[in-house]
Amino acid sequence: MNHIGEFIARRRKEMGYTQQKLAERLNISFQAISKWEVGNMLPDIQLLPQIAAVLNTSVDAILGHTHVSRTHYEEKYRGEAYYWGIVPNKLCHEIMKLRPPIEPYRVLDIGCGEGKDAVFLAKNGYEVTAFDIAETGLDKAKKLAEYHHVKVDFFKADINEYVPNIPFDIIYSSGVLHYISAKRRALFFEVLKANTSVNGIHALNVFVKKPFISEAPDLEDAEKQVDPWHSGELQLYYHDWMFYQNEEILFDCTSGGTPHKHCMDVLIAEKK
Ligand SMILES: C[S@@+](CC[C@H](N)C(=O)[O-])C[C@H]1O[C@@H](n2cnc3c(N)ncnc32)[C@H](O)[C@@H]1O
Repeated sequence: MNHIGEFIARRRKEMGYTQQKLAERLNISFQAISKWEVGNMLPDIQLLPQIAAVLNTSVDAILGHTHVSRTHYEEKYRGEAYYWGIVPNKLCHEIMKLRPPIEPYRVLDIGCGEGKDAVFLAKNGYEVTAFDIAETGLDKAKKLAEYHHVKVDFFKADINEYVPNIPFDIIYSSGVLHYISAKRRALFFEVLKANTSVNGIHALNVFVKKPFISEAPDLEDAEKQVDPWHSGELQLYYHDWMFYQNEEILFDCTSGGTPHKHCMDVLIAEKK
């Protein structure tokens, strides 16, 4: 198998497509898909944008030109100290209140950074899977888990590529959703919701843009390019779930050394 065939096979399975189903979506024969996947043939170059659209990915990713391997967090996480500290986010306590770990609930932490929340939840009896794009963060997250003698399934992935392949009971993400491009958001939440067990919960927050809050002074170019989120946008993706918490908060921040403000939408919703 070559990279392209391997990538298409993996992505097809993640999306729950058979070769036949993918062939129908692309209007080609399933034998062609089979040949790509075993490496006997490459897809026609003109078909790449359509393959990327159907598999909810990019032509770059299909070709293996992914730019996801580094973010500025790679550098920020390089130091000894835990950049975000090791105190769990308030949302983790809310999760524990709503779903006390009396059952082995499966949790997904999206963009786990250096793992403070994933490890906290694992210590409290949840079965935790967590990913981030920054390898330096993941290395520290693994050390933190080892230190606390807990098992967490940490792995590297890009939120703009990731598709869950098992259902989760709890999906958690803090300070990360702003990295999802606007064009991917609807499908991202659709897939995330479909891969959540009935009565499962999502506990999420996202930075939102407000005209009266200036851009954080330490914002890196990479972050400026990402499409901003607007108030209430996150909640719209969950209109068919039950809300436990739905609020907008304004808070002070000193990251980068200069005091500034952020606005965040926070949502805890349950699948009915
Ligand atoms: C503000 S930090 C939050 C980290 C963690 N959730 C916490 O609260 O400690 C944002 C995280 O998003 C990760 N990130 C940035 N772009 C990403 C992407 N495309 N896919 C996955 N994670 C990404 C960064 O590496 C970083 O760890």
